[in-house]
Amino acid sequence: MCDGYSNNAIAQRLGISVLESLTVTPHNVGPQPVHTPVLVREVVEALAGAAAGAIIDCTVGEGGHTEAILNAAPDCVVIGLDRDPSALATATERLADHGDRVRLVNASYTTLAEQARFLADVPVMGVLLDLGLSSLQLESDDRGFSFQRDAPLDMRFGPDDSLTADDVVNRYTERDLAWVLYQFGEERQSRRVAKAIVQRRLIRGTAHLAEVVQGALGRRGRIHPATRTFQGIRMEVNHEVDAIRTALAEAEQTLHPGGRLVVISYHSIEDRLVKTTLRESRVLKVLTKKPITPSAEEVALNARSRSARMRAAERLDEGNAFK
Ligand SMILES: C[S@@+](CC[C@H](N)C(=O)[O-])C[C@H]1O[C@@H](n2cnc3c(N)ncnc32)[C@H](O)[C@@H]1O
Repeated sequence: MCDGYSNNAIAQRLGISVLESLTVTPHNVGPQPVHTPVLVREVVEALAGAAAGAIIDCTVGEGGHTEAILNAAPDCVVIGLDRDPSALATATERLADHGDRVRLVNASYTTLAEQARFLADVPVMGVLLDLGLSSLQLESDDRGFSFQRDAPLDMRFGPDDSLTADDVVNRYTERDLAWVLYQFGEERQSRRVAKAIVQRRLIRGTAHLAEVVQGALGRRGRIHPATRTFQGIRMEVNHEVDAIRTALAEAEQTLHPGGRLVVISYHSIEDRLVKTTLRESRVLKVLTKKPITPSAEEVALNARSRSARMRAAERLDEGNAFK
């Protein structure tokens, strides 16, 4: 899904060097599905443009990006956050060899400023947000993120969060449900889908939900008709738009001048929000006029990377901030 826009050319314009020591440990031994981190080289290169310091990986997941950052920049420490304790458990095991250069916390990225105050004893020179969900979460049998397997209607990143997909699907009014599907799923037929769901309640699980949506919309084209409905419900359950907005504002305030903010988005709602926030910021200089996308080679190796869009910005000195 390369849009003809050369990542190397962008890297050159950013003044970014190509790193030689980019390594990610293969950890796909055993029957577990694994998450392949996306745009790893591009992320590491963008962060390497800043001086050594602390990097906050706001979505550490299984630790793929963090591991590459630690290997490429021996002088940095990484503070890794994730709302999902099972993802953090995998990351902890994977990153054990890095000792106290990595500090992992089960917390939302909406608290990144507070985490930095407690855990960063050097200036914060990088913040990374790799939005969306990991392959492990998508393919889990009990998290309910995928329409391709039957699971309870859950979709929470944090197991202690109170709102579940079941609440949204089985308890929201038809009007509120339609709004969620339209606003967060960009489902143009949101009213039709919401009506079908309400008529068929109680919806018992993800397979049932996918069947109801398919019944309402029919099946045309390559994309499953329930894709947008599942995205919308997941974003509502996890308050994702508000969380991203908060994290971007906190990142801007937490970064030391010269520090870099790097965000990978996977759909247009996320990407629009990131693009607009970076563009309107008075203290961030946008480094990527157009988003960086995965190369054809990366997409061939990891189909899930095809929708990724990376944007980067640099924190300005207050004196150089845009007025
Ligand atoms: C695409 S995955 C990140 C994968 C990671 N970069 C890697 O290399 O393994 C996104 C991660 O963000 C986490 N997440 C979602 N919302 C979050 C939030 N509000 N705060 C912290 N982590 C969150 C998810 O649990 C998931 O592990």
